[in-house]
Amino acid sequence: MKPVDLRSDTVTQPTPGMRAAMASAPLGDDVFGDDPSVNALQEKIAGMLGFEAALFVPTGTQGNLCGILSHCQRGDEYIVGQMQHCYRWEGGGAAVFGSVQPQPLEHQADGSLALAAIEAAIKPDDPHFARTRLLALENTLGGKVIPFDYLQQATALARSRGLAAHLDGARLFNAAVAQAAVNGSDARAEARRIAGLFDSVSVCFSKGLGAPVGSALCGPKDLIARARRIRKMAGGGMRQAGVLAAAASYALDHQVERLAQDHALALRLAEGLQGIEALQVEPPQTNILFVDLAGAARERSAELLPFLAAQGVLATGLYRLRFVTHHDVDAAGIERAVNAIRSFFRA
Ligand SMILES: Cc1ncc(COP(=O)(O)O)c(C=O)c1O
Repeated sequence: MKPVDLRSDTVTQPTPGMRAAMASAPLGDDVFGDDPSVNALQEKIAGMLGFEAALFVPTGTQGNLCGILSHCQRGDEYIVGQMQHCYRWEGGGAAVFGSVQPQPLEHQADGSLALAAIEAAIKPDDPHFARTRLLALENTLGGKVIPFDYLQQATALARSRGLAAHLDGARLFNAAVAQAAVNGSDARAEARRIAGLFDSVSVCFSKGLGAPVGSALCGPKDLIARARRIRKMAGGGMRQAGVLAAAASYALDHQVERLAQDHALALRLAEGLQGIEALQVEPPQTNILFVDLAGAARERSAELLPFLAAQGVLATGLYRLRFVTHHDVDAAGIERAVNAIRSFFRA
């Protein structure tokens, strides 16, 4: 039987409709700006999020790198959260390739960075210090929706201190769908409202949206022109990339609102694990569920993932146990995961 793969929302396969869109995509050489499918995707995502321009990049990592290096010069600094992808999980790319220094801050319980901590981290204009240029935030962060009011305040603070603001919106649409459910509003309007607070936003198509490859960096025209040069330097200038852009376009047309189903399945999984004494289950806000082993059960943590894998349930556990729902998981798969986890703690 095919395993239930809850390691990440990046593991999805393109649907037949998406494959058909890829197969029939008109193509050209995107380094010459000639690929109609890439151009159409860039216009679509920029328009959806209310930006002048967008750049199709192969990965979210490159989207963040192009964003940070378009805002910052050598010797500049960006303020970022300790657990954000563009600090912790991207090999230190901004520092390695751009000589841009990160200034990491601890997160508060809701995933935000305290405004006072941001304020305190902004360096005075003095030759001792790197020049603080950018505030980088992430939404969702570890599956948490960063409150909209907070994003308003943090980006306003950045702006009042002359900093630009970049959003790692790898899962912006998960945040938007969750926010829309709370506000009784439209997910696409929520995505635009969140994105509108930032100078640049990087969005991934290859996560919950279900495309095989690709992200976009959105921003003003001059920033995107700088980002295009950085993308080329980073080896991200692709040729007939429209075959990939067509999948991303299809995802934007057909697979945004369905993220609500992933959120419901994560909640179902959390509910299914209630009552297991050895587990602390953090209530999921979107499609990512974190679970911690409590008490004596911690000693068995190294056995849990191999046990689940043997039962056909895949998950990860670098810092905490993590289960991610996505397009290729269904209710039956979640039941299987619940049963496998329960049977581990019965043994
Ligand atoms: C929040 C966030 N940003 C950026 C990325 C990087 O995306 P990629 O794996 O396409 O480089 C990821 C990847 O998981 C992510 O979770």
